Amino acid sequence: MKIFFVTSNRGKVKEAKAFLEPLGIKVKQLKITYPEIQADSLEEVVKFGIEWLKDRVPKYFFIEDSGLFIEALNGFPGVYSAYTYKTIGLEGILKLMENAKNRRAYFKSVIGYYDGDIHMFTGVVHGVISEEKKGTHGFGYDPIFTPDGYNKTFAEMTTDEKNAISHRGKALKEFHRWLKENLKY
Ligand code: IMP
Repeated sequence: MKIFFVTSNRGKVKEAKAFLEPLGIKVKQLKITYPEIQADSLEEVVKFGIEWLKDRVPKYFFIEDSGLFIEALNGFPGVYSAYTYKTIGLEGILKLMENAKNRRAYFKSVIGYYDGDIHMFTGVVHGVISEEKKGTHGFGYDPIFTPDGYNKTFAEMTTDEKNAISHRGKALKEFHRWLKENLKY
């Protein structure tokens, strides 16, 4: 079975393949850009994306939207994480956090799968924003996020290590479980 992952992010595709290919599911990246509406939640962004894509992309496909939510910044960058990364970047976030006593933050991932109906799977990982950038693996905010229970950032971990505890890993695990139960193949 083949499932399309509509995304332009190769890092995410690498993570999804690691979860789904052992199930015998081929994950094929489709680089189609779809509108990401301004909304209060990742779930709304995903739902809108699927509604837009469903008549343009062959079944079966999924999309994923994620964000970094920082307590001291009242949840910013949150649903604006991609834009914030492109504009002020990691340096900008570290600067905003310069005097913050509370460095707690979480990543959230929402996967939307379309098979005629929409199915959503979510995952969250809590941690802290590090004082400085560390590590070279991964992508995005990985060099400044240290998950709870570790003293290294996501960017200092291998894909497998990160997948085992990350927000996307958790959402993918849920997705994986659901596919296993619901796919007759
Ligand atoms: P989107 O889900 O493609 O809209 O991206 C959300 C933003 O959050 C992007 O700027 C990513 O770089 C960032 N992001 C999402 N997941 C991760 C992650 O696992 N590590 C680091 N940054 C992430």
